[in-house]
Amino acid sequence: MIKNEKQYKITKKKLLSIYDEIKQIQSTNEHLSAKERLILVSLKTMQDQLEIEIAAYDLLKTKASPLLEERSIDDLPNLLIEFKIQSGMTQKEFSEKVGMKEQQLQRYEAENFKSISFKNLLKILHAIGLKITVKGLPLKIPAGTKISSRTNNFTENNGNNPMSSPILDLGRNTFGNPANKGNLLSLEEAHALLNEWVPNERLRLHMRQVGAVMKAWALEKEGADEPTALKWELAGLLHDADWEKYPEAHCRIIIEKLEELRIDPEVIHCIASHGPKYFGVEPENTMDKMIYVFDELSGFIHASALIRPTRYEGMDVKGILKKLKTASFAAQVSRDDISDALSRIGQPLEEIIQFIIDHQKEVL
Ligand SMILES: [Fe+2]
Ligand SMILES: [Fe+2]
Repeated sequence: MIKNEKQYKITKKKLLSIYDEIKQIQSTNEHLSAKERLILVSLKTMQDQLEIEIAAYDLLKTKASPLLEERSIDDLPNLLIEFKIQSGMTQKEFSEKVGMKEQQLQRYEAENFKSISFKNLLKILHAIGLKITVKGLPLKIPAGTKISSRTNNFTENNGNNPMSSPILDLGRNTFGNPANKGNLLSLEEAHALLNEWVPNERLRLHMRQVGAVMKAWALEKEGADEPTALKWELAGLLHDADWEKYPEAHCRIIIEKLEELRIDPEVIHCIASHGPKYFGVEPENTMDKMIYVFDELSGFIHASALIRPTRYEGMDVKGILKKLKTASFAAQVSRDDISDALSRIGQPLEEIIQFIIDHQKEVL
């Protein structure tokens, strides 16, 4: 696992030199000797591994969904490192936040927090607002005891702290006022809201991509007219708009804002449906179901593109399927959520992946 920016840069450099070596072997000889073939296989294995590690790191930096409903306590060292990466803080800033010396923290990370004292561990957990819950504690704690990142603190603004974001059950199923049907923001207004609420360009890109894929699906697969396609696009564009400023209250704040603006209730319900496990709102119509399908997969595919030298060019479904099957790749992306979302629409995963690749590759 890549633990910090320094390791990230080293890994990227190593990957580039592997690309060069592969290219060199392939270009200099038409007929490879057995030894060269063996070297090639081992280089490609290394390439796969490094690409996966880089993509996992990129994904942590770009991910805009609360993914930490439950984790095994064995994952705690990784969780702390993931938290730091997702927060976007430098090693120095993170050590200041948790009240430790940078070198001390580096030592802990290097040995996966094996020697950390309970007191220091609590200090870190407290500083980052991570709460551990032990479930059904028997006399002997079994392997696989779960921890949760849920926190009840909704008052503090932890904008730099996406991993501490809670699972927020919205506690209701109806949104907006039916009288506002057809009331939509213009695209300019939606982008202005995004620019104001989401300073992080990577997050804005995620929303633009989901918006573009939603719009394309509405037009191409649902035969939607322009106003309906705009509804789909707006839901995609705004679904994480409150994430950066109000992570603890995602997506309650954007919902309230859109209700205040008297926006069409279908757009608001769709936004509320983008994570049924997290927000407690079941996707009802096709628009709701598709945002649930696209949200996780779009981010996953974009992270895969980031590690490819040619980005989206030449990207194929097979490569994405392979990464989805690799549990260690972007382990925080819930494969269960993806299967759950797909089971609701009865469309093959392969087609959805191809659709996303085709429609988000132009969104920059
Ligand atoms: Fe979200
Ligand atoms: Fe999202």
